[in-house]
Amino acid sequence: MAEFTNTSKYEETFDPRCYLDFFYIGQGSLAEDFIQAQLENFHKLFSSGKVKGKTVIDIGTAPCIYQLLSACEAFDEIIATWHTKRELRELQKWQNREAYAHDWSSIMKYVCELEGNRVTVEEKETKLRGKIKQTLFCDVSQTNPMAPADLPKVDCVITIECLEVACRNHKAYSLALKNISNLLKPGGHLVIGGDLETSYYMMGDHMVSSLPVTEKFLRDVLGENGYHIIDLKVYHLPEGKIDPKLSDYGAFYFLHAQKM
Ligand SMILES: C[S@@+](CC[C@H](N)C(=O)[O-])C[C@H]1O[C@@H](n2cnc3c(N)ncnc32)[C@H](O)[C@@H]1O
Repeated sequence: MAEFTNTSKYEETFDPRCYLDFFYIGQGSLAEDFIQAQLENFHKLFSSGKVKGKTVIDIGTAPCIYQLLSACEAFDEIIATWHTKRELRELQKWQNREAYAHDWSSIMKYVCELEGNRVTVEEKETKLRGKIKQTLFCDVSQTNPMAPADLPKVDCVITIECLEVACRNHKAYSLALKNISNLLKPGGHLVIGGDLETSYYMMGDHMVSSLPVTEKFLRDVLGENGYHIIDLKVYHLPEGKIDPKLSDYGAFYFLHAQKM
């Protein structure tokens, strides 16, 4: 198993641009199956009318925005978060419409299609930028992950591909979940997505650790932390799809739970 990539090592070795170019270029990328399934899951969930409200916090946003494209239709405001400065900088390039920002247009186009092409890609992009009202530092290992900000509890928390990177072991994952719960109203919704039983992936020449989690672990840890699981979908990639030189990733999940 890869050695845990702590924050300073992560800041030093995780190149967010490389991550975006590698995983989020749309069709043909390593995360193609993951992205397509998660965009469809987000669309279904946030267009159902059952999960909506004033505020959603996305834990571990930077450098990505794809996970917010459907949520921006269901919430008045989005609080995006960052943990390392390089990832924040990459997110800001997109927020500020800077040259050399990552091009999300193929992913935006797919979400616009799912939503019935009611708006253009440019309109969607503008809407999402407008809905992100704050971009705050976050550390899931802290009792208040948003400290020093002291936020009122929110209607929904999303966290995608984050907890497995942020937590060195299963105990830390459970604690992170407890800390995230402190941000959520009773009855609030938690949406988690990530990889199953994956222990590493390569970012250029550097290995980034991932905490291997199973479906059973997710069910147990959510139950122990006072959540009712509404939906847990597991997807398996065809054998041999991922080169083991790049990752031991072979399955991923989408989970929707409600805080009791
Ligand atoms: C692999 S990236 C995922 C980014 C994006 N959510 C996605 O879906 O691709 C992992 C994210 O976890 C964040 N992260 C790592 N350790 C963290 C911690 N202790 N607290 C909060 N976020 C953390 C990173 O900064 C990054 O945003």
